[in-house]
Amino acid sequence: MTNISKVGIIGAGQMGNGIAHVFAQAGFDVILSDLSQESLDKGLVTIEKNMQRLVGRGKMTDEDMVASLGRITISTGFDGFADVGLAIESAVENEEVKKKIFTDLCPILNETAILATNTSSISITRLAAITDRPDRFAGMHFMNPVPVMKLVELIRGITTSAETFDTIRELTVELNKTPVSSEDFPAFMVNRILLPMINEAIYTLYEGVGGVDAIDTAMRLGANHPMGPLQLADFIGLDTCLAIMQVLYDGLADTKYRPCPLLVKYVEAGWVGRKVNRGFYDYTSEVPVPTR
Ligand SMILES: NC(=O)c1ccc[n+]([C@@H]2O[C@H](COP(=O)([O-])OP(=O)(O)OC[C@H]3O[C@@H](n4cnc5c(N)ncnc54)[C@H](O)[C@@H]3O)[C@@H](O)[C@H]2O)c1
Repeated sequence: MTNISKVGIIGAGQMGNGIAHVFAQAGFDVILSDLSQESLDKGLVTIEKNMQRLVGRGKMTDEDMVASLGRITISTGFDGFADVGLAIESAVENEEVKKKIFTDLCPILNETAILATNTSSISITRLAAITDRPDRFAGMHFMNPVPVMKLVELIRGITTSAETFDTIRELTVELNKTPVSSEDFPAFMVNRILLPMINEAIYTLYEGVGGVDAIDTAMRLGANHPMGPLQLADFIGLDTCLAIMQVLYDGLADTKYRPCPLLVKYVEAGWVGRKVNRGFYDYTSEVPVPTR
């Protein structure tokens, strides 16, 4: 057991609200922050809906749900962050946004607090370097949907101390999840392998080799993947997929990571997947309809 009892989370989007959910369910006090009250309210509604589902399946009691929800407080700033033992940043996948958050947050945090980021791809070492605590900074990369997925990929930056890494590993186990350790290279392990496959599926669509439905069916039934790659891209968020491909392309300087122009077009159109009800599928009716 670590001596951490309260965790701060920045970003109440699909990942941030899931991270708040699992910490609250595991008995931690949680302060959840986002830019607007609207984003926070949306995050809280999602957490409650997901906990209700667990209650419905007999995986959580009603009392546990009420107690867990009672452990979560919200803020549109960093009120309530002064006494957290761990702060996890889970805002949009944009390096400048993340750096600004760390610059504003560090003076508020207790000097012993650990700072982590849920980035999917950005250099942990580079982010750590702009903070006042590069030794107490690490990557905690949760998987989507957080309450369901067992893995947390832990990333050690060059400056991350052994003590910090041990603490985040223990916390991961306290969440009843399985940690894997990754060194700090672009997109780490999971996304280094997963995103080029998704990008290739989008190229396959772009070149007209197959339609959306054919590509997803081929990979579901032909490779035994639980979701087709285009369905998975919508689930991750096409903006996040593009940002990760860009980090791979820039960071490894290899043309094999070139983001597919069709992915760029979908993001330009604002068709970024499930979170806006439109990506490679339209989600406004009961059965998703391919958009190409
Ligand atoms: N989507 C995935 O499958 C997945 C998986 C693992 C990790 N991640 C990473 O998690 C992070 C969040 O992704 P997401 O899918 O939850 O995105 P999202 O778009 O659902 O949510 C992002 C949230 O960040 C908020 N935000 C933006 N700027 C902010 C700021 N300055 N301060 C506070 N909040 C701010 C937004 O209002 C929004 O609510 C990204 O770094 C992403 O790469 C995503």
